[in-house]
Amino acid sequence: MSPQLDIVLLSSQPQVIDDLSDLLIATVKNGDSVSFMYPLARLTAETFWKNSLAAADRNERVVLGAYMEGTLIGTVTLLLDFPPNQPHRGEIAKLMTKVSYRGQGVATSLLLKAEKIATERGKTLLTLDTAVEGGAASLYEKLGFQVTGIIPDFALKPYGGLTGTIIYWKHIGPTSQ
Ligand SMILES: CC(C)(COP(=O)(O)OP(=O)(O)OC[C@H]1O[C@@H](n2cnc3c(N)ncnc32)[C@H](O)[C@@H]1OP(=O)(O)O)[C@@H](O)C(=O)NCCC(=O)NCCS
Repeated sequence: MSPQLDIVLLSSQPQVIDDLSDLLIATVKNGDSVSFMYPLARLTAETFWKNSLAAADRNERVVLGAYMEGTLIGTVTLLLDFPPNQPHRGEIAKLMTKVSYRGQGVATSLLLKAEKIATERGKTLLTLDTAVEGGAASLYEKLGFQVTGIIPDFALKPYGGLTGTIIYWKHIGPTSQ
């Protein structure tokens, strides 16, 4: 029997900041596009997660952690705080699975839980973007996200060189049409 996967809401705790920082640093080292350049300094990673979890504590976002046998093996962030004319929109960000646990459905479980929470919080539209090179396009498309388009040369990859970004959207509730 494979070990149980638990998806939990994370809050500002030293151990959580430590574990998320380890995951982010390893993800960047692996060359994956998650907004940071290689090498990612530990202090930069910790500051990022401290700020992100503080925003989660203020209910401006939800940070989910995927745990297997007590080890953090994945995370995703659901951004909730948008301008007054977009109260119905949520955004998916910082989706990553520990390299050795990829291909086992961890990210899928994280995204399904994020979508459920978004619905519970009254969101009807999700948006996100992912790198053209090495992003997670097929994963998002499998989960029903629609392509808006590609912005070329949008960001640097962790080891340098530009890549485009693909913008996605998904209705998760009633639409205006
Ligand atoms: C993208 C990522 C989170 C996927 O994590 P995962 O736990 O391996 O994903 P899953 O096991 O749930 O994969 C589900 C499906 O998506 C596909 N998929 C997974 N990662 C993919 C990737 N990087 N590119 C394209 N397809 C991918 C898998 O083939 C799988 O399909 P299957 O069910 O037919 O086998 C992981 O590869 C990762 O951490 N990448 C680096 C960070 C990143 O790029 N994040 C996205 C930023 S927007």
